[in-house]
Amino acid sequence: MQNFDYMTPTRLIFGRESIVKLPSVMSQFGKKILLAYGGGSIKKIGLYDRVIKLLEGYDIVELSGIQPNPKYDPSVLDGVRLCKEHNIDVILAVGGGSVLDCSKAIAAGAKYDGDPWDLISYKAKAQAALPIVDIITLAATGSEYDCGGVISRTETNDKIGYMDPHLFPAVSILDPVYTFSVSKKQTAAGIADAMNHTMEQYFAADTTLLNDGFCESMLRSLMINGRKCLDNPEDYNARAEMMLDCTYGCNGILSLGNSPSGWPCHAIEHALSAYYDITHGEGLAIITPRWMRHILSEKTIDRFVKYGINVFGIDASLPKQEIAQKAIDATYKFFESINIPMHLRDVGIDDSRIDEMAHHVAVNEGLDKAYVPLTEQDIREILVASL
Ligand code: NZQ
Ligand code: ZN
Repeated sequence: MQNFDYMTPTRLIFGRESIVKLPSVMSQFGKKILLAYGGGSIKKIGLYDRVIKLLEGYDIVELSGIQPNPKYDPSVLDGVRLCKEHNIDVILAVGGGSVLDCSKAIAAGAKYDGDPWDLISYKAKAQAALPIVDIITLAATGSEYDCGGVISRTETNDKIGYMDPHLFPAVSILDPVYTFSVSKKQTAAGIADAMNHTMEQYFAADTTLLNDGFCESMLRSLMINGRKCLDNPEDYNARAEMMLDCTYGCNGILSLGNSPSGWPCHAIEHALSAYYDITHGEGLAIITPRWMRHILSEKTIDRFVKYGINVFGIDASLPKQEIAQKAIDATYKFFESINIPMHLRDVGIDDSRIDEMAHHVAVNEGLDKAYVPLTEQDIREILVASL
């Protein structure tokens, strides 16, 4: 078992109507709030009006229009400028992972004198950040409980996931009711995203029995509850379980003591959404089974066997190779069964930029140190198999 040094300082306030605690939460941080949100879903579900009413008496500056796969220019730059101009005390992010990730970059940029891209690209280290409170409206990324953010820079085809302990939200408010309105497409993408977060931690050289059990349980819960959310979007318990699953998915708690795995599917997917602006969870669902097939070997087969038996209930008496193949097929079929497009061509990606993307991933993502190290050629083959 590996050493670790772990802390998640975020306060979680979970459940129906937990938003009533918003005024007392915000009172800890000061009067000037940057309210960050996306393209309008929070207005449609009445959450925007609720927030404004609860925060009467506060000085609120708004940053709206944050897009999925949030962009450095204009959203991060505009947010940093607003924070500096208005001397903002705290950021309130209301929306999905994109709004929260953008808010994290803004929080750090607001306390930095240089170009905020220095922080995202690890050229400089943040010394401080504004506090962040979020009301998350889409179960997927786990950004509400981690210190990472993913920002895209269109002109360079960069989509960088960066982490900094200053960027843990101070408080995350999670009310599953706000996820009732999430579309089937985004719900399915959220299931795939959180499942992949779990798999990225499960497929490692050294794991613990405890972590394996957590991960297997997470995967089963996401499949069962995720499907219930799709069948009945207003099933509170299913939305609630899915929401908490997603919250646990990305902050490392599922892999304490494991050896590093390199998160290869995320590294490859980030290139897909950087070049083509596709939905993150869909890209992951497409890549995952192809990556699994690519890395299946005598060295990795025991992981796949355990995964197949404990997650999908495959008959343990079958030959190992058959269990592993069935496990990979079951992974593919599950994603397909929740209507995720399972080929790159289905999401508008052809073979014209595969070489460029494979090169970009190989140079920037360090997959030579992944659970199964991947060369540029390996990445190209996984992408080609995904077409
Ligand atoms: O913009 P609005 O109008 O709010 O609409 C959004 C958006 O169009 C909509 N939506 C959100 N909540 C809704 C809703 N629609 C109806 N009802 C609601 N309650 O859903 C669309 C997608 O939103 P987005 O925030 O982009 O989705 P998600 O939460 O999946 O975030 C994806 C981003 O997070 C990054 C991804 O790469 C991607 O950029 N990730 C962040 C991670 C992290 N911080 O730890 C880890 C992940 O691996 C991931 O990479
Ligand atoms: Zn993800």
